[in-house]
Amino acid sequence: MRAAIARAELGDDFYGEDPTVNRLQEMAARLTGKAGALLVASGTMANLIALMVHCPRGRKAIVGSKAHAYLWEAGGGAAVGGVVMTPVANLETGALDLTELEHELATPPDAHFAQPSLVVTENTHNLCGGVAVTTSHMAEVAALAGKYGVPVHLDGARIFNAAIALESDVRTLASYADSISFCLSKGLGCPVGSLLCGTRDFIAQAHRVRKLLGGGMRQAGIIAAAGIVALETMVERLAEDHLNASALAKGLALVAGIRVLAVSRRTNMVFFDLDADQGSVQKFQAALKDRKVLVSRSGPNRLRAVTHFGIDRKAIDQAVTAVAEAAGEALAA
Ligand SMILES: Cc1ncc(COP(=O)(O)O)c(C=O)c1O
Repeated sequence: MRAAIARAELGDDFYGEDPTVNRLQEMAARLTGKAGALLVASGTMANLIALMVHCPRGRKAIVGSKAHAYLWEAGGGAAVGGVVMTPVANLETGALDLTELEHELATPPDAHFAQPSLVVTENTHNLCGGVAVTTSHMAEVAALAGKYGVPVHLDGARIFNAAIALESDVRTLASYADSISFCLSKGLGCPVGSLLCGTRDFIAQAHRVRKLLGGGMRQAGIIAAAGIVALETMVERLAEDHLNASALAKGLALVAGIRVLAVSRRTNMVFFDLDADQGSVQKFQAALKDRKVLVSRSGPNRLRAVTHFGIDRKAIDQAVTAVAEAAGEALAA
């Protein structure tokens, strides 16, 4: 990847003149079955641009109650886009509650109410345990939104993981959305970058909003070169991360004081709760870090482990041992 970055042919991307960016964008458009794609700085920026293009200020975006775009993106949709972020329940399967969704879609055209302009889906669903959301549910959401003439944006930060877990392909999953974002910088291993894909008109508007947000870039081919390597060489191997995450979940389930969140179609994440007070959870996290195992915190006593390139089965066994030791220390203190 570093060699590809060094070799990249460059130009001014703002004017569409960076051949490496153009190539990556064409690859992304082809993979997702959309007419166009735009390289942006991050998944958060991709989602924010999608919200701002689909939703004029004061309009409503219907999001899952546990959606990343709702909870973990600094409130950007509301703060920057003036979008009324309206949650409907996310089920454990990452699905949206369809009754609540229809209730929000059927908002009367009454001057009291913000009118729906977008439904946001997420696959895989991070806060629902990294679950791959079924294709049939995505089809149901698309049909329901279509009935009300409301477009769908798919936050597909980890859409390649979803495609592998569902034994489907990205193009099929993207077909249930009008726009889709995906990230290069997560399991695909790039230092930076996400793609936003949609119709030509959508991408033209997205280009403008990216500029407005300060995300216009110059010789961005150095980012795109890594993305091309990722799409060509890092996708298939995501299946290993899924097997390793399952092995990790099994191992952690045997550790005293740990409760692993069950996930119907696990991908590369394991969420688990430590049966302890917040102080002990902090000690546990620090004790794990001392053992070179990094986990993030996603609730008072909930932690998230993610498998990725460079983590093999031996490392999983070492991580389970480290968790057992760290939990023993934290719970004894
Ligand atoms: C589902 C989902 N969407 C979007 C993002 C945001 O991506 P970024 O960190 O690149 O802004 C994340 C980050 O973890 C995510 O999990």
